[in-house]
Parts: sequence; C-alpha cells; structure tokens
Amino acid sequence: MGTHQRLLFSSFSFYLLLLLLTGVHGSSGDSHHHHHHTHRHLFNFKPSKLFVFGDSYADTGNNRKSIANSWKVPYGVTFPGKPAGRFSDGRVLTDYLARFIGVKSPIPYRWRNFAVNRLKYGMNFAYGGTGVFDTLFPDPNMTIQIDFFQQLIKDKVYTPIDLQSSVALVTLSGNDYSTYIARNGSAQGWLDFITQVVNQLTVNLKRIQGLGVKKIAVSALQPLGCLPRSTFASSFQQCNGTQNELVSYHNLLLQQVVSKLNNETKDSSFLILDLYTAFMTVFKNKGERPGDSKFENPLKPCCIGISTNFSCGSVDENGAKKYTVCDDPEATFFWDTVHPTQEGWRSVYLALQATLEQL
Ligand SMILES: *[C@@H]1O[C@H](CO)[C@@H](O)[C@H](O)[C@H]1NC(C)=O
Ligand SMILES: *[C@@H]1O[C@H](CO)[C@@H](O)[C@H](O)[C@H]1NC(C)=O
Ligand SMILES: *[C@@H]1O[C@H](CO)[C@@H](O)[C@H](O)[C@H]1NC(C)=O
Ligand SMILES: *[C@@H]1O[C@H](CO)[C@@H](O)[C@H](O)[C@H]1NC(C)=O
Ligand SMILES: *[C@@H]1O[C@H](CO)[C@@H](O)[C@H](O)[C@H]1NC(C)=O
Repeated sequence: MGTHQRLLFSSFSFYLLLLLLTGVHGSSGDSHHHHHHTHRHLFNFKPSKLFVFGDSYADTGNNRKSIANSWKVPYGVTFPGKPAGRFSDGRVLTDYLARFIGVKSPIPYRWRNFAVNRLKYGMNFAYGGTGVFDTLFPDPNMTIQIDFFQQLIKDKVYTPIDLQSSVALVTLSGNDYSTYIARNGSAQGWLDFITQVVNQLTVNLKRIQGLGVKKIAVSALQPLGCLPRSTFASSFQQCNGTQNELVSYHNLLLQQVVSKLNNETKDSSFLILDLYTAFMTVFKNKGERPGDSKFENPLKPCCIGISTNFSCGSVDENGAKKYTVCDDPEATFFWDTVHPTQEGWRSVYLALQATLEQL
C-alpha cells in the first residue's frame, strides 16, 4: 500500500488543493469559534453511557483474531498485559474518553453476551480497519455498526432514557483513503472522494443523533503525513506536508458540516475531537508543559517490522519475530506504523482535555 500511496500523492495536483485551501481559510476562524462553543455544551449533562463507532483508533476488541495484528504479541503488553484486540501496547482513545465522562470502557459489541453487567456503560461497535465505505478489511463498515446499535435499541437493550444520557464517539482515521489509493492508483477523483467520505460520515452522524444519542464527538483526521508509515522515508524525521494538506481538506469539510449540523440543532449535539491539532501539539511540546509526555523523537514508533514487508507482531513459519520492540513504550508516541502507544493516547487526551478545561 505504501508504494501506491506514494504514487498517488506524487501525481496529485497539489496546487489545485492549495487553491482550495487558501480559498476557504477565511472561514476557519469562525468555525473555530463555534467549535469552542460546542465544547462548553458537551458535558453539561451527566453522561452515563458511551457508544463508540469507527475504526482501530477506537476498537477495543471487535476485530477478528484471524486477521488482526491487535490479537498478536506484543500488542497489549502494557495493558491489559497480553494481546486483547487493541491496536496499541495499551489503552486507546475510547478508554480515555470513557475515563473522562466517568464510565468504564464500554464492552466491545462482539463480547456483549459475555459481560452483561458491563452493558450499562454503553457499547463499542468500532472495528479496526473499517471506514464509512467498505475497505480492504471485511469487517462491518460504519453503516453496519450503526445497524447493530439500532437493533439493540429495537430489542430494548437500550431505552430512549438511556440514550438521553449518552455520548457517542465516532472515529474515522483514514481507512477509506488507504483503500481508495490501493484500489485506484490514480489521483483523479481524489478530492471528490474526500467529499464523498465526509458526506457519508454526515449521514452516519445524523443517524446516530436520530436514534436518540444526546452528544456526539467525532474525530477530525489525524496528520496522516506524520504517521510512521509516511515518515519512514525520512527516518522518522519529517512529516509529509502533501499528505497533511489532504487531511486539512477533509477536516475543513468536516468542520463545515458539523457547524451546519449544530446550527440546525437546538442544543449543540456535535463536537469535533481535533486529533490533528492534538497530535501536532504533542509533537511540538515534547514535555515542555506539565502533564505532557517526553518523547525523544515523537515520530519514531516503538514496534517496527524488520523490513517493509513485515509489520509489528509478524513472525515467520518457525515463530521467529520479524519485528523489533523498543525498551520503553512509555517513551514513544507511536506504537506501530499507524497507531499511538497508550502513552501517546494519554498525551493526546491531555491535549484535548486542556481545550475542554479552558472553557
Ligand atoms: C510526500 O508524499 C508523497 C507521496 O506520498 C511523495 O511523493 C513525496 O515525495 C513526499 N514528500 C516528502 C518530503 O517525503
Ligand atoms: C456497508 O456494508 C454493507 C455490507 O457490506 C454494504 O452493503 C454497504 O453498501 C456498505 N455501506 C457503504 C456506505 O458503503
Ligand atoms: C478511480 O479514479 C477514476 C478516475 O480516474 C474515477 O472515475 C473512479 O471513480 C475512481 N475509483 C474509485 C473506486 O473511486
Ligand atoms: C444558521 O441557520 C440560520 C437559519 O436557519 C441561518 O440564517 C444562519 O446563516 C446559519 N448560520 C450558519 C453559521 O450556518
Ligand atoms: C521483502 O521486501 C524486500 C524489499 O524490501 C524484498 O526484496 C523481498 O523479496 C520481500 N520478501 C517477501 C517475502 O516478500
């Protein structure tokens, strides 16, 4: 996929995008303002449940053992101590948001019949590798995830009163885009595709709201150009600006859509979790502010395949490791080529929380 990606971005009409971006910058001040405004409203009620939709940035164990690295050693080494379906050495965004609103991390949908006493905290429908559209992974896309949720409401597992005191987390971390690149090496249609992705995401957000969830936090796309799979080429020294410009376009559209949705709603229901700014803040601060973590080189991952055709967790037919793991995952921001470590997520959470507390 890496090669395809490089191909795509190199032929991408960067100037067209720049034009588009500069054309709309003027309005971003406004939307930023609105964004702060929605923060203030998000937690002025006492949430009792968290429902989660999306991908590996939120999945806590729905993905299948047969296809996902998250069930292989060394995933989960920090928490819970063994591989358990999280794409990290430990906790992920879901766990930190649950902590923030004061509930236990919600049970993955797949395990709902094995922990009935945990249903009261909500449920996690996120599947690693998925997107709003079908991706290279066969797991349920976001539409199907919401179908699962809808069925549980129909079955009265969750009542309208439950939903009134609920928060939803929706993550979209780029699998639609990597699938597009893998299936369609051409850059043509790429900007249109960003629009399609955000439009489908909008449909999904409205559906979750329509089902009765009170507050919905949706992630902005993280800086894809800073993921180790992109910075690998520069020995983890430099983010790829071209890729980050594409991300900015996605995030701009998302911001516009969310402002519009909030304008149509009586009390603001939607909040953007700005992972782009949060990641960038953590990369920049490197422990300068209290509570920030100290990452020597925040772009360098802890767990790395020994060559580009091996990933974290892969072994050969004799069981010999085809990857290396750093000594101290707490000292790295990224765990593998795409996902933050637990400490990485913790610092992202702190960066997001700081925004909340300013209000
Ligand atoms: C950024 O990525 C594109 C495609 O992925 C590539 O063509 C370009 O060389 C990269 N830029 C840098 C500075 O690595
Ligand atoms: C979601 O997945 C289902 C089943 O694979 C598929 O029929 C549907 O078209 C997908 N939805 C979107 C928006 O791609
Ligand atoms: C691939 O790009 C072409 C234009 O070159 C576009 O018509 C088509 O829709 C794209 N394919 C996908 C899967 O989006
Ligand atoms: C909000 O909606 C009102 C009317 O529904 C409209 O006049 C106004 O321009 C909208 N504001 C934004 C920021 O979209
Ligand atoms: C792994 O990648 C290297 C180049 O990075 C290539 O020479 C080799 O053939 C690949 N091995 C397999 C099993 O694909």
